[in-house]
Amino acid sequence: MHFKYNFYIYRMKAQVADLNFELLISYDKIEKRIKALAALINADYKGRTPVLVGVLNGSFLFTADLIKEIDIPVEVTFTKLASYFGGISSTRKIRDDFDLTINIKGRDIILVEDIVDTGNTLHYLIDKLKVREPASITVCSMLLKPKALESTINELKYVGFEIENEFVVGYGLDYKELGRNLRGIYRKIS
Ligand code: IMP
Repeated sequence: MHFKYNFYIYRMKAQVADLNFELLISYDKIEKRIKALAALINADYKGRTPVLVGVLNGSFLFTADLIKEIDIPVEVTFTKLASYFGGISSTRKIRDDFDLTINIKGRDIILVEDIVDTGNTLHYLIDKLKVREPASITVCSMLLKPKALESTINELKYVGFEIENEFVVGYGLDYKELGRNLRGIYRKIS
């Protein structure tokens, strides 16, 4: 069977390392949703200059696409945390790989996440940043697994898509560091 785009990054099905995945959310849908999220941010932060903090590695594509749709003055920076360590479920251990390089005191912070699963990583990061007295912190996550969330995150204001409690790759998300270059988001089938 021939798909319109028969390249690895456009496929309906994809193998990533030893696992098989199928398309869950196309890049087309992702693009549309990002425009809607950016419109909310543009309205909510009008007259202010928020700092978008991309949480690496998973959010690098989302941060890049989101910032292109934001039409108010905005800064962008990154921090790096890791919690899955190559598996398909949360290890609950968070490794702090690199910290913010800017002073966030008095600033409006928007944390940009790829996915919120148990929510432990975000709680850790929010607690760490609150001590530095930003004016505000909100979170914009591409994906949310509501059934996996262990406690409410009040700061989680912008969510791209809610998904079932299943393992996904693509659009920045990895399995064993692979699959980040898939254009859409894929769910594990076997
Ligand atoms: P949490 O601390 O359990 O909310 O996990 C957050 C982090 O785990 C995310 O930023 C991802 O790096 C990783 N993660 C959670 N679910 C998935 C998934 O389905 N695929 C790939 N990585 C995931």
